[in-house]
Amino acid sequence: MKKQKLNNDVLMPIIGLGTFRSKEEDAYNAVLTALKAGYRHIDTAAIYGNEEAVGKAIKDSGIKRKDIFVTTKLWNTEQGYQTTIKAFNESLQKLGLDYVDLYLIHWFKGYENSIDTWKAFETLYDMGKVKAIGVSNYNVHHLEHLIANAKIKPMVNQVETHIHLQNEFLQDFCKKHSIQLEAYAPLMSHHIEELLSNETMKEIAKKHNKSIAQIAIKWLTEREIVVIPKSVTPKRIKENFDIFDFSLDDEDMKKIKGLNRGNKYFTEFDNVPF
Ligand SMILES: NC(=O)c1ccc[n+]([C@@H]2O[C@H](COP(=O)([O-])OP(=O)(O)OC[C@H]3O[C@@H](n4cnc5c(N)ncnc54)[C@H](OP(=O)(O)O)[C@@H]3O)[C@@H](O)[C@H]2O)c1
Repeated sequence: MKKQKLNNDVLMPIIGLGTFRSKEEDAYNAVLTALKAGYRHIDTAAIYGNEEAVGKAIKDSGIKRKDIFVTTKLWNTEQGYQTTIKAFNESLQKLGLDYVDLYLIHWFKGYENSIDTWKAFETLYDMGKVKAIGVSNYNVHHLEHLIANAKIKPMVNQVETHIHLQNEFLQDFCKKHSIQLEAYAPLMSHHIEELLSNETMKEIAKKHNKSIAQIAIKWLTEREIVVIPKSVTPKRIKENFDIFDFSLDDEDMKKIKGLNRGNKYFTEFDNVPF
């Protein structure tokens, strides 16, 4: 599978399985199904309440730990230096792992908080407990502030990205600073029906004999954006990974580019009330 090289040379598989809103048992089954289907990258978070199930599925899969890329995230209420270290150790324990591959600050919660929290991330990185560190839901101004105050630059920024919110400007900024962009809600999450009924996407899917979900995922990987579609349905988990046998051409890419609306379906980064 294609991997993206992070700014510290860690390799990140370009597709992973998302687990937001996947309850314990569903998350366990979904992770096992995904690993069997060839996924080697799983995205979870402390707030999802499924780290134990994800860790158990990883263990039960029989696949070597070093071959699976695991991301988890620090929840907002735990930001700050000491609280971050404690929360990280709790996540690690729940996952039943010795290290995670990527640890992310889940949301921006103020400039001061961001820097204190980042210092703890740098400590965990220096200790070898995380192979890469990054942020989520950070826009350009949040990243600029972090970079100006960081010893270690973030390696990843995970943000909502899909055909209605294409994030070209943010991707350009991230590229300039060697930060890998990662797309959450690639299928538009709770707005998926709008994706599945889009006429342009239908036409491109028909042309390649693929599903609309596969085209939406492929379009992100063609842009070298790491993508983490979520599903708890075995057929869909397999379908979302089956995108390595075709390419989108310039005309397809141009048509999809024309679908950008700047529509954000998750909370604005600067107004997070949780
Ligand atoms: N950092 C953040 O703040 C943040 C925020 C949101 C999400 N995330 C991460 O990103 C991941 C993906 O985002 P998301 O879960 O919000 O949304 P998503 O992946 O865009 O969409 C998930 C929805 O699409 C359905 N689906 C999946 N594959 C499909 C297919 N091939 N055909 C038709 N429907 C399909 C799923 O249904 P079934 O499950 O029923 O199959 C589910 O309802 C999350 O799981 C999480 O890991 C991060």
